[in-house]
Amino acid sequence: MNEPLLRTDTAAMLETRQVLKRYKSGSTTLEVLRGVDFRLPQGGFTAVVGQSGSGKSTLLHLMGLLDAPDGGEVLLEGRRIDNLSAVERDRLRNTAIGMVFQAYHLLPELTAVENVLTPLLIRHSIWNWFTRRRQARLEAEELLDRFGLAGRLHHRPRQLSGGEMQRVAIARALITQPRVLLADEPTGNLDEESGAGIIEALDELNRDRGLSIVLVTHDAGIARQARSIVRLTAGRVETVAPAA
Ligand SMILES: Nc1ncnc2c1ncn2[C@@H]1O[C@H](COP(=O)(O)OP(=O)(O)OP(=O)(O)O)[C@@H](O)[C@H]1O
Ligand SMILES: [Mg+2]
Repeated sequence: MNEPLLRTDTAAMLETRQVLKRYKSGSTTLEVLRGVDFRLPQGGFTAVVGQSGSGKSTLLHLMGLLDAPDGGEVLLEGRRIDNLSAVERDRLRNTAIGMVFQAYHLLPELTAVENVLTPLLIRHSIWNWFTRRRQARLEAEELLDRFGLAGRLHHRPRQLSGGEMQRVAIARALITQPRVLLADEPTGNLDEESGAGIIEALDELNRDRGLSIVLVTHDAGIARQARSIVRLTAGRVETVAPAA
């Protein structure tokens, strides 16, 4: 046996245990997730693939606490998080978990820098914000600079390309310094080159900063760039490529 000498049983960054999710519409019930066991190790980078309608977004929303499962558990670093109060849930979403969506969801009236700052605005009281805002703005500018947007700080979303908007959205997800990033088809609206740029940025964050990432994608080529791949089929996950 080649057991490592120092074996620490660290909890997974994010885990689901036997998660169930069903949607009722009229008299029919759709069982979307039928006992999903998913495990993202600390510092992991896992792609979730599966057919349209297989429940990828549903699973991501449950892990990002945007929705609650009908059964099973969601755990962050070994701690159960699916049964928290609304206040605790919001706090976690503003500190530990970052989310990125296919459609960016930027606020159209705000500039790139202001969009990136919104999670911090929500976090702080007005007085607290008053004392923090200069530093926060510097951090936001630095993040945008890192994503090649130093020349776009004061552009509004309609003045940005798709790839640029997605990079702003990623910067906004990172300004709170989350431990895990959940990205739902972040390249879905982008041409191949911009998409590759986004994946490269995620890869760098994972390698250099140890950010744990779950990436939902229907693109097999993109999925292969993650360090492990799981597939959702018939409401369950199967591993198709082993974790590194
Ligand atoms: N709020 C809802 N109410 C009812 N049904 C829903 C709801 N959200 C999702 N569904 C259904 O659940 C199934 C899974 O949806 P989900 O969005 O998770 O799929 P997906 O794998 O992300 O698909 P895609 O690749 O097209 O984004 C779909 O059949 C969808 O119609
Ligand atoms: Mg989806």
